[in-house]
Amino acid sequence: MAQQAWENLVPTGVPEIDRQHRMILERLDFLDQAIRENQAEVVIRQILTDLMEYAREHFRTEETYLERFEYAERASHHDEHEKFVRDIGALSAQSDEGGIVSPERVFDYLSSWIGHHLRVVDARYVPLLLARMGSGKG
Ligand SMILES: [Fe+2]
Ligand SMILES: [Fe+2]
Repeated sequence: MAQQAWENLVPTGVPEIDRQHRMILERLDFLDQAIRENQAEVVIRQILTDLMEYAREHFRTEETYLERFEYAERASHHDEHEKFVRDIGALSAQSDEGGIVSPERVFDYLSSWIGHHLRVVDARYVPLLLARMGSGKG
């Protein structure tokens, strides 16, 4: 799945961001695999924790570029990242309390958010990054 997903990704103009996007999709794929293989909960949680740590690191990197290039939508972009972290935190907390959050439900939220964010929301800053990185003003 991830293989195909990143082949379809539009390069952003910043290799560091492209690399992070690929890594996030790769971790999403690990999670998908672990769920399908019915791996132990501790394994699934660890993959999810890694994925979220990686996502946060990526959001910091990405937002640094958006700030530097004064991307007009940087505040709302930041809010989208924050909402994602909060939502996943809330789902994890629910399962910690013995709630009924299935790994499949977490995965569905993750994969649809990430898919939409990379293809639609991140895609909006690409023209700016390409222009600025190409101009040598980066
Ligand atoms: Fe983003
Ligand atoms: Fe991104």
